[in-house]
Amino acid sequence: MYNDEYLRLKATIDDHLLDFLPEIDNKSNTLSEAMRYSLTVGGKRLRPVLLMASCEFCGKDSKLALPYACAIEYIHTYSLIHDDLPAMDDDDLRRGQESNHKVFGEATAILAGDGLLSTAFEAMMKDMLLYFDDPQKLKCRIQAAYEIAKGSGCRGMVAGQMADIESEGRQCSREYLDYIHLNKTASLLVAAVRAGAFIGCADKQKLTDLTVYAECLGLAYQIADDLLDLDGQEAIVGKKTGKDAGHRKCTFPSVYGEEQARDRLHELTDKAMEVLAPYYDEAEFFVHLAEELAVRVK
Ligand code: IPE
Ligand code: IPE
Ligand code: MG
Ligand code: MG
Ligand code: MG
Repeated sequence: MYNDEYLRLKATIDDHLLDFLPEIDNKSNTLSEAMRYSLTVGGKRLRPVLLMASCEFCGKDSKLALPYACAIEYIHTYSLIHDDLPAMDDDDLRRGQESNHKVFGEATAILAGDGLLSTAFEAMMKDMLLYFDDPQKLKCRIQAAYEIAKGSGCRGMVAGQMADIESEGRQCSREYLDYIHLNKTASLLVAAVRAGAFIGCADKQKLTDLTVYAECLGLAYQIADDLLDLDGQEAIVGKKTGKDAGHRKCTFPSVYGEEQARDRLHELTDKAMEVLAPYYDEAEFFVHLAEELAVRVK
């Protein structure tokens, strides 16, 4: 049931992911090709799935949220292209294939990331133009786009990436480690559920509960990612492993030790599940999602 639901939402996103890319004239073919390469090469689509599921959870058709779901995947994909650049994590493998800069070169990879980021906002604004004569619906869409802007920018993902880079090779407190992970990873998951909730016209309580859920899920997700970097298999995770230690990154296993990192992953997963438990069957998808993401790590 959970799996079918995830696959249904993921299939909708995969089917429509390129729909919101603008027509580009043929002098920009390289840019277009590089943007499309990273979008179509794979990916779990976690953020857009969360956004659409959250819209449905709040009682609206998730198709209404599609431009915002695709926008958040564009932003996430741009963040991965830039994260892999030699000046950042210097990774050659992404989503099971060569990283963008390995195929197109660094300059094009930077521009493909820039292109995806701007296109995300173009797609959301274009959708808003359809709601000029319905102030209530327009307001919900502005709120959704605001959440995505906030979560992905210098109070969210970009701030986390900066802190991640600055922490390399340094002693890092637990508080600072939480700051990195909450920003670089959890903030986009929070933006996803909140954007979906706004488009779904959520009440305040649901919005708050979904936010706490996504914060816990986001932290847990990055802990799992850190553990997979430590002892996951390259063929399964689709990216090189053992890179964090090589860069002397501040990660959960490096600061807390592997066992404590696992404990924290399970505590956060339990907390995510608990916060939505009062919704019973209605929140079944979110509860199972948290469980499934945790068992990716042995
Ligand atoms: C990778 O994100 C970066 C992290 C924040 C851990 P995902 O694990 O969601 O990567 P894709 O989208 O499935 O490739
Ligand atoms: C990156 O974290 C988070 C982003 C915002 C891209 P990582 O650097 O750990 O992600 P991976 O392991 O390369 O996917
Ligand atoms: Mg990184
Ligand atoms: Mg990386
Ligand atoms: Mg990682």
